[in-house]
Amino acid sequence: MTDIVAPSPNSPKAIGIAADHGGYKLKEQLAVKLREAGYKVVDFGSHKLVAGDDYPDFVIPLARAVAQGIVARGIAICGSGVGACVAANKIPRVRACLLNDTFSARQGVEDDDLNMICLGGRVVGQSLAWELVKTFLAAEFSGAERHLRRLGKVAELEGQTAITGWGK
Ligand code: RB5
Repeated sequence: MTDIVAPSPNSPKAIGIAADHGGYKLKEQLAVKLREAGYKVVDFGSHKLVAGDDYPDFVIPLARAVAQGIVARGIAICGSGVGACVAANKIPRVRACLLNDTFSARQGVEDDDLNMICLGGRVVGQSLAWELVKTFLAAEFSGAERHLRRLGKVAELEGQTAITGWGK
């Protein structure tokens, strides 16, 4: 079992995590690694393995928490990571991506200000997943003008000004 930390505006550096049945095992493994690394972990479920549960039930609350700054960044896992990514990106201010390589995990934050990573529990093993998560969490948005300009054009689709950076 993971420690459940209640979402709180006083924990802006907390990391949110969520998974359906396809990602449950990897979620539990990553939550342990995150806690060992000193992160606060907010677990949006599923809190037990339930065959046939639905990724939007867990991923959308996590995505809303990321968008609201309740958690600094989010990790969403389903079987492939695809459904989790599609669902997360429906929430304004969420920039989520399915990742399988560390280059993109770093550059996706530096250039594109990713605030959620999506993983496939049936695709990546625990070791690669942890490398991806560590890379994602260690990276910072560059703030470069060209990237702000591009993100601004994306944010216009949501009818808002781009908001970037940890916990914002
Ligand atoms: C569930 O079987 C599976 O469809 C789901 O976990 C995810 O992979 C969807 O993209």
